[in-house]
Amino acid sequence: MMLGTAGFTALLCSFAVKAKEELLLGEKVKDVLVTGATGGVGSIAVMILSKMGYDVHAVTGKKDKNDYLKGLGAKNIIDRKEFEGESKLLEKGVWDGVVDTVGGAALTKIFAQTKPGGIVAACGNAGGIKINTNVMPFIIRGVKLWGIDSSGSSIKRREFVWGEAAKLIDFSKVKSFTKELSFTELLETYPKLLKGEFFGRAIVNPNK
Ligand SMILES: NC(=O)c1ccc[n+]([C@@H]2O[C@H](COP(=O)([O-])OP(=O)(O)OC[C@H]3O[C@@H](n4cnc5c(N)ncnc54)[C@H](OP(=O)(O)O)[C@@H]3O)[C@@H](O)[C@H]2O)c1
Repeated sequence: MMLGTAGFTALLCSFAVKAKEELLLGEKVKDVLVTGATGGVGSIAVMILSKMGYDVHAVTGKKDKNDYLKGLGAKNIIDRKEFEGESKLLEKGVWDGVVDTVGGAALTKIFAQTKPGGIVAACGNAGGIKINTNVMPFIIRGVKLWGIDSSGSSIKRREFVWGEAAKLIDFSKVKSFTKELSFTELLETYPKLLKGEFFGRAIVNPNK
């Protein structure tokens, strides 16, 4: 319940990044970027990828959540502003893998900064739907865009991914940032959600 679709999506994205080593038999994954890192998908992806042994670079717009992200396993925190604005055709390649929950200008810059053979697992559009990219990252560096569609996953894939959850997710940590809300509390929470002020996971308990 605490993980929900966000947790499932974080697992799908993390296994997509890991595919660089296993499915594509590429070089070892080291540096992985996660955007929207304090969000539902982002937080759980930070936790999973750090458990997989990667150096996780967490991008956030919330300056007061550095300790939270470090507690989940992030090695480095990056201000969201660094992923705004125009990108060059290619920039210095720094990411072996990326979990992108944001889309838009951030995703454009991410393509330009992904190392040769790196995998970008794109699942979200919290920052926008348009990407203004070019072919260079794909034809010069072989960057791979791995679209994530949690609802379209096969039963076989669901069974595999959920089967791995217990090994990769610290449920006591997830519990520490999960609240139980009544319907009334949910109504009070929606405006905060829209303003980007809500933080953590919420389970709605109709009996509360
Ligand atoms: N493809 C799928 O199957 C699938 C499944 C689940 C969710 N999704 C999508 O994935 C995305 C993330 O879902 P979620 O449940 O994690 O949402 P969430 O809890 O609302 O988190 C989104 C995070 O994105 C960042 N953000 C918000 N507005 C932004 C902006 N304008 N520019 C850049 N960053 C911004 C914030 O993180 P910081 O403050 O830390 O930067 C926020 O916490 C959503 O777009 C959702 O629709 C897709």
